[in-house]
Amino acid sequence: MKIINSIIAMQALAIAPERGERRIVFVPTMGYLHEGHASLLREGRKRGEVLVLSIFVNPIQFGVHEDLDRYPRDLENDCRIAAECGVDIVFIPTAAEMYPPAFQTGVTVRDLALPLCGARRPGHFDGVATVVTKLFNIVRPDVALFGCKDYQQLAVIRRMTSDLNLPIEIVGMPIVREADGLAMSSRNAYLSPHERQSALCLIRAIRKARELFTTGERSVAVLLHEARAVIEKEPAAVIDYVEIRDGELLNELEVADSGTLLAVAVKIGQTRLIDNTVFGEEL
Ligand code: PAJ
Repeated sequence: MKIINSIIAMQALAIAPERGERRIVFVPTMGYLHEGHASLLREGRKRGEVLVLSIFVNPIQFGVHEDLDRYPRDLENDCRIAAECGVDIVFIPTAAEMYPPAFQTGVTVRDLALPLCGARRPGHFDGVATVVTKLFNIVRPDVALFGCKDYQQLAVIRRMTSDLNLPIEIVGMPIVREADGLAMSSRNAYLSPHERQSALCLIRAIRKARELFTTGERSVAVLLHEARAVIEKEPAAVIDYVEIRDGELLNELEVADSGTLLAVAVKIGQTRLIDNTVFGEEL
């Protein structure tokens, strides 16, 4: 497994004639890898000959009062997991090289980036779209994998890839959960043992709404009311949003159906957690 820090060195490998017909498969991350990231890497391993993992805590996708400075990092453990998953290249650029002082270009995806996390984290998806475009141009992948855990992010990246005619296949992967249902996230590391228990209100709310959907409830108002009530019962939880939207365009709906998205964002203490489910699909 090779570790590459320099952009030019990574790009040189990607465009080298020796690459031949070998397909590059890419998993971009911010590190502090867990089983969710590993599931992307294992699937990626099957989809091509050169598996590239990037680790980069992208400063431009964090708001001024967000957790950029304390985002968890453990490169040694990340490299161990990467090696176990059969990664060929770990690309770890520096912020100084990714964003030199003269940097002033951005990629914006319009409507899809407006609701849900886009409304609560202004500029977040511009930061994501911009860094992913840069990483795509550096790594030159044929295939890139993303998790449905960040449902809106996946939608934004699919749209951007299509709109900009990037010749890259985008693969969406199911949410990997802990045994008790909490969606895996690098940010779970912030939770105290008590908060870790409180964090289960997200999956409880999702299960409640799914149960109601399965027994025939289709009213978005009712489904939202019931999901919110579950979270409101948890004293340590503050709802950022609980929303039901069309799974493709993320438009608002009054009637839920198969393919409809339920997305939640909840603050547990200082930690903001997100989770989601698509009705009619497996949890
Ligand atoms: P990060 O949060 O590190 O996530 C990297 C990838 O892992 C994303 O595609 C995310 O959806 C996926 N992932 C995270 N938790 C998961 C889980 N429990 N199950 C399945 N997949 C999961 O998302 C980012 O980094 C950044 O925004 C990035 C795309 C790298 C751009 O900076």
